[in-house]
Amino acid sequence: MSSYDVIVIGSGPGGYVCAIRCAQLGLKTACVEGRETLGGTCLNVGCIPSKALLHASHQLHEAEHNFAKMGLKGKSPSVDWKQMLSYKEETIGANTSGIEFLFKKNKVDWIKGWASIPEAGKVKVGDEVHEAKNIVIASGSEVATLPGVEIDEKVVVSSTGALELGKIPNKMVVIGAGVIGLELGSVYKRLGAEVKVIEFLDAITPGMDKEVQRNFQKLLTKQGLEFQLGAAVQGVETKGSKAKVTYKLRKDDSEHVEDADIVLVATGRKPFTDGLGLDALGVAMEDRGQIKTDGHWATSVKGIYAIGDAITGPMLAHKAEDEGMAVAETIAGQKGHVNYGVIPGVIYTHPEVANVGATEEELKEAGRNYKVGKFSFMGNGRAKANFAADGFVKILADKDTDRILGAHIIGPMAGDLIHEVCVAMEFGAAAEDLARTCHAHPTYSEAVREAALACGDGPIHS
Ligand code: NAI
Repeated sequence: MSSYDVIVIGSGPGGYVCAIRCAQLGLKTACVEGRETLGGTCLNVGCIPSKALLHASHQLHEAEHNFAKMGLKGKSPSVDWKQMLSYKEETIGANTSGIEFLFKKNKVDWIKGWASIPEAGKVKVGDEVHEAKNIVIASGSEVATLPGVEIDEKVVVSSTGALELGKIPNKMVVIGAGVIGLELGSVYKRLGAEVKVIEFLDAITPGMDKEVQRNFQKLLTKQGLEFQLGAAVQGVETKGSKAKVTYKLRKDDSEHVEDADIVLVATGRKPFTDGLGLDALGVAMEDRGQIKTDGHWATSVKGIYAIGDAITGPMLAHKAEDEGMAVAETIAGQKGHVNYGVIPGVIYTHPEVANVGATEEELKEAGRNYKVGKFSFMGNGRAKANFAADGFVKILADKDTDRILGAHIIGPMAGDLIHEVCVAMEFGAAAEDLARTCHAHPTYSEAVREAALACGDGPIHS
């Protein structure tokens, strides 16, 4: 039996970051992972592989649509799907082995296998029981299926199956216009598939600023994605290598059928806590299957903490990472802290969509006195040169104090641009602080400054 200060269960972005930070803070640490490789869903079958396919398919889109305009003539590249998949696998490998290296460097032991917690202070993996003064559960999430829809990962796939299809389908039906549906839907659209997205609500990307939702849907439609909103999927029937998706329109209850070669189920994820033995331990749970934690990520059982997708809050890798670092600091006797008001969200389509803080609708609902500063990428020289002038930056600031309350960006590199607003918000900055900060020309980030200027005397380039 080995004995540790901390055993982290799960090596996704929450778990591995937590384990490394624990070790850096002088705690004897192990991380249990049952997969063949470290990194969890994000690195193995989520964020990283999808970004590889998004990057490759975007390059194809550029070659097909913009190369000739720039005087780059010649035949557009054709798709070698097998090679694209091996590029994706190499990307995964480089990242997962990177974590193995970091574990060795920081002296974090990787205990291979699936963990359970027979009692507080003990973690069982296979036949071995390890002692741990502190246990951090970072067991992540799994796909939430729909009633009447069975995922076989061949014809009816989750994001995992969608990242390794045997071939590019002629027709893909995506259930759910959330982050996964739109990212992977755009990959296959760019690779030549017909893509239809069926969404229950009357708008795509629920919870996002409405102006961004509308603009985003328009741009995706221009790219050829088809949308059926306000439609509840009733079931999916498969016959050989084909599927039929049945859905009802909410407005009139009429039933419709859509044929597909591949159906991607992207209707959300749920916490994954199977096999940990939490019931027997008496760990309190939330109604929707999340582990209940206090403001310091402590569960109802002393010495057991939980972070990431397994607890409440947005299911985002970077939220889990922040919690991983903070809980490590808390265990080490420091004051770990996560500012949940400044967690950015990014959709890695083209253009990208990014947000932080409040939406305009949330401010209205809260009765806040706010102002809006908006700037279109049409007025940004760099964006025009790069065929990336679709979209805008929208900054919401308090009308009286000018303090930034939220930002919403749709446009080139939105996922990177959002961070200057995040930093500004962390420092409690006013829009004028951003507006008075010199921004290099020509960069996309000038659009952020112009939106900040629009909160005051007005932008220069519109
Ligand atoms: P999601 O919650 O983002 O979107 C699910 C969508 O499915 C919603 O729009 C919902 O209204 C719709 N839906 C639910 N039931 C339906 C039905 N019966 N018929 C039609 N539509 C229905 O979930 P998604 O895209 O599966 O992602 C799962 C999690 O993974 C999310 O929490 C997301 O934030 C995270 N993720 C984040 C990424 C990023 O940050 N770029 C990338 C991929 C996933």
